[in-house]
Amino acid sequence: MLIDSSPVLRLQYAMLDSTITTSSVPTDHLPSHNLIVAIDGPAGAGKSAVARRLAAELGALYIDTGAMYRAVAYTALFVGTDLSDPLALTGLAEEIRIELRPPTLENPETVRVLVDGRDITEHIRTPAISQLTSTISAVSGVRKRLVNEQRQMAASGSAVMEGRDIGTVVFPNADVKIFLTATPEERARRRQLQLQETGKSVDFDELVREISERDTRDSTRADSPLVPASDAQVVLTDGLSEDEVVQLLREICLKKVQQ
Ligand code: DC
Repeated sequence: MLIDSSPVLRLQYAMLDSTITTSSVPTDHLPSHNLIVAIDGPAGAGKSAVARRLAAELGALYIDTGAMYRAVAYTALFVGTDLSDPLALTGLAEEIRIELRPPTLENPETVRVLVDGRDITEHIRTPAISQLTSTISAVSGVRKRLVNEQRQMAASGSAVMEGRDIGTVVFPNADVKIFLTATPEERARRRQLQLQETGKSVDFDELVREISERDTRDSTRADSPLVPASDAQVVLTDGLSEDEVVQLLREICLKKVQQ
């Protein structure tokens, strides 16, 4: 197996392999050192599902860094931190303990997010928290704290880490760097389908506008803007299914470890 993280986790991923993946990576091709796969890209490009599945295929830890920024935003709101005070937000980020629990066999699609032992998973994906997270993630002190945590999380084994600055800031020496993206229209179309499945209808142009605004905010902030690392492989997912993207990334990883 690829990683030297806990046996329980390895077993869990090995078991997940058979349930949520199409094929597994032949272990004789894997490197003896920990493999770090950085997956960056804008919101709505499908990073989470693809990164989670790829991690299961590789037997690596899946780390959703966006969930960590969301955890800080939600906790700030919950405890009444002054949202306009960068020092207070930094202090909060330094104080709290964020835990990401990997998917389980019963719940293969959900990473559970805990702050100081309290499970906040169900609260961090609302539109209000998404907006607040986008603002809070521009605070340098918050970023510094979370980047340190992210480096430590990946210290004990192979990891597929998903975010905005993984290939540029968190792991500039990552073995594999992917910038996963899709046009705003494609991302709006996917989001519209998701919303329709839950019985909600939204205006397509409005969705495109929101997505483009968030892209602009994330890619123009001063600290760690959303840009592809110079050595990242840019993957445009327009017209590709999730299975096809996982397959493509798996091939990129295999090519890398065979070098
Ligand atoms: O991936 P996501 O939608 O859960 O991310 C939520 C917000 O956090 C988004 O506005 C971008 C920000 N983020 C970031 O600045 N850096 C990361 N590594 C991950 C997320």
